[in-house]
Amino acid sequence: MEIDTTQKRDMPKQLTPREIVAELDKYIIGQNQAKRSVAIALRNRWRRQQVPKELRDEIAPKNIIMIGPTGVGKTEIARRLARLANSPFLKVEATKFTEVGYVGRDVESMIRDLTQLAVNMAKKQEQENVKEKAKELAEERLLDILLPKRKKEGGKETEDTEKEKTLEVVRSDRHETNSTREKLRRMLKDHKLDNRYVELELEDRGVPMVEIFSSSGLEEMEFNIKEVFGNIFPSRKKRRKVKVPEALDILFQEESQKLIDMDKVIEQAIKMTEQNGIIFLDELDKIAGSDTRYGPDVSREGVQRDLLPIVEGSTVMTKYGMVKTDHILFIAAGAFNISKPSDLLPELQGRFPIRVELSPLTWQDFKRILTEPQNALITQYRALLKTEGVELEFEDSAIEEIAILAHRVNELTEDIGARRLHTVMEKLLDEISFDAPDMDDKKVLITKDYVQKKLKDILEDKDLTRYIL
Ligand SMILES: Nc1ncnc2c1ncn2[C@@H]1O[C@H](COP(=O)(O)OP(=O)(O)OP(=O)(O)O)[C@@H](O)[C@H]1O
Ligand SMILES: [Mg+2]
Repeated sequence: MEIDTTQKRDMPKQLTPREIVAELDKYIIGQNQAKRSVAIALRNRWRRQQVPKELRDEIAPKNIIMIGPTGVGKTEIARRLARLANSPFLKVEATKFTEVGYVGRDVESMIRDLTQLAVNMAKKQEQENVKEKAKELAEERLLDILLPKRKKEGGKETEDTEKEKTLEVVRSDRHETNSTREKLRRMLKDHKLDNRYVELELEDRGVPMVEIFSSSGLEEMEFNIKEVFGNIFPSRKKRRKVKVPEALDILFQEESQKLIDMDKVIEQAIKMTEQNGIIFLDELDKIAGSDTRYGPDVSREGVQRDLLPIVEGSTVMTKYGMVKTDHILFIAAGAFNISKPSDLLPELQGRFPIRVELSPLTWQDFKRILTEPQNALITQYRALLKTEGVELEFEDSAIEEIAILAHRVNELTEDIGARRLHTVMEKLLDEISFDAPDMDDKKVLITKDYVQKKLKDILEDKDLTRYIL
């Protein structure tokens, strides 16, 4: 029975800063200062909750700017933090926004998006709470559908599976007795009915979706139109034949939908957004500086000005109600190689009191990045090739050589940080990736020699390097 297996968070609810850093360490090499800062910020959310109410409202979040060259782990830290924080977490690019009045997303949309995320989270939680009840109800409804309409199919001789035969037994029992129902229930639980079809009457919620406005900050429209027309055209019923497991799933969804108190969910979600919400504002440097303009007529300063009230604390109207932004935590990031944090509006600078610098990565870091993180590139390639039966092994000296070469390419051309490892690995393994299914010898050992042979020629030609690596 395939019933919504709501992903369980295996993290304890509130991690200490040390534990947060330890979790981040599983994926990100180095950058300890940045890890510490985000860990403290995250923990501070929880601390604030423990403070007496009068003071609690006074404690403003200490927003962070992560400054560092490209490809050193800024976004990666935020992404991993998102998984740890049991709070609504939204990642947006500052460059996506335009000033109010221009076509494009206005900055308030991030609060609406964050609230939507919180609603989804709260709903999922609530779904988890009513799961058992909904399962029971779905089962009863399915039994209702299965039982009354049973007819004998005139002793048709079939060489069907055992399941079918047992079904015949049940069918022949014309009286809808409790024991029949129980037998059927047993069969349902034992997956003996999984291949049967049942007819369901479903609500057809096919109200035309209007999404024309979705990118102009008016996404509320879609919702309103649905509301309005939803009432004008009564929902049509539509019959559909589906297999038992799917039917059970559909009925389960319907029942849990009915059991969930949406008002409560929304109330919780808004509280979660206001008290625990985190927004990761990437590419903040791209909107710093006042003189240059990007895009047609949209000034960077204009976007900053719009951003200011949200970061400082204001109230944003969402389709779920008003959301106060005072305590939402903002973590910004940017390379800041052209502009500086001091090019931001002074008020905005003041709202990001914590600055952490991420350091450029050394080749030693590269070597660790290749092997240590849980999602390390080498682990990924080995798993991919294993699906072809290929056992890929790397000599330690080979890994070191890859790291050194990748680092050199960064120096010779453009420094794109750890992203370089992706292009280098791809080039290194392209032959093996192509030939893998046809290989006779399924054991492949990557040696230092192999790395040099595959990459040295390209490295010697600077122009070639630029194109290929
Ligand atoms: N310190 C690190 N440890 C492990 N992996 C890293 C590290 N830094 C970068 N990476 C890897 O490099 C890739 C790019 O990193 P990330 O997206 O974090 O860059 P960034 O710092 O946000 O750069 P940008 O300024 O260009 O947005 C990711 O796939 C990430 O896994
Ligand atoms: Mg990034």
